Amino acid sequence: MKHDAVNRTFDCEPTLTDTQVLQYCRDGYLQLQGVVPDEINQRTCDYLNGDLPINPCFMPDGITHADLERMRDTHEPSSILLEDWYIEHVLLNRELAGALRSLLGKDVGLPVLVSNHRVECPMPSQGWHHDADHVFGPETNFVEVFYFPQDTPMELGPTELMPGSHIRSTSRDIAEKGVSSEGPAGSFVIHSQSILHRRGESTAEGLRHMLKYSYWRTVPPTRDWKEEPEFDIQTAEYGGHGVARYVAHIFYWLCGKGEEFRLIGGQAWPWSSINQIGPSYGFGHKEGYLPNWRKDNPDDYAVPLS
Ligand SMILES: [Fe+2]
Repeated sequence: MKHDAVNRTFDCEPTLTDTQVLQYCRDGYLQLQGVVPDEINQRTCDYLNGDLPINPCFMPDGITHADLERMRDTHEPSSILLEDWYIEHVLLNRELAGALRSLLGKDVGLPVLVSNHRVECPMPSQGWHHDADHVFGPETNFVEVFYFPQDTPMELGPTELMPGSHIRSTSRDIAEKGVSSEGPAGSFVIHSQSILHRRGESTAEGLRHMLKYSYWRTVPPTRDWKEEPEFDIQTAEYGGHGVARYVAHIFYWLCGKGEEFRLIGGQAWPWSSINQIGPSYGFGHKEGYLPNWRKDNPDDYAVPLS
């Protein structure tokens, strides 16, 4: 692990395989369960509850100790990003860092802002929503992370996500359930900021913390995660009609080949069926269309800029 405290970046070995990166492109999220030690989870809760003195490892320019004290008591307690124990065990957590490095390339930019989704349970579920300022596109210039510092069973209303909803505007009735991020203390959800999500319904009594922040890309994308020799971009599973083209575009962009991506439509690549007797036609075409990310065209294809 290489941590550059001045430029606020880290670098380490990527840990995700081709299959896992493609899974992230399809679902829009991945979960890491119980990877932060209990002592650190407890310390995080103590810090957020004001039961631990503030002890920044350095003071950023223009920020005073009083600013940090004030910040800690808001819904954006970013002062925690300056605690050395938090940096080492949560921000740069080994499992988390390896996954982030796989999706964001070398020298990952560390968060500068924290949101604390602090909930006095019980509470009804929130309505399904895409967060403010989300963008639908092939780029992965940043990913958002949820950190659950205490055990978060269904009774404490863990965040629910709608898999695959990061590629287009999606709505769901409040009565519909998604995939729950329930898990033990020290769990993370790495996800596209564009994914449809909500706070789940909670039925237990008590205070629930959930910290949310973004990690940032600082280098152009390239396929430098863990390559699998048997993984074949031509025959990989990208999803069904109306979806595969978006998922494949995201994967191509991550491989650093976003500019080369072209579609010819119909049953051509990246669409496929398990009942085919040969690979889909259309792979590697130099001319064709793009997915219609802006949704301004009835056939859902866009014309590349020449
Ligand atoms: Fe939200």
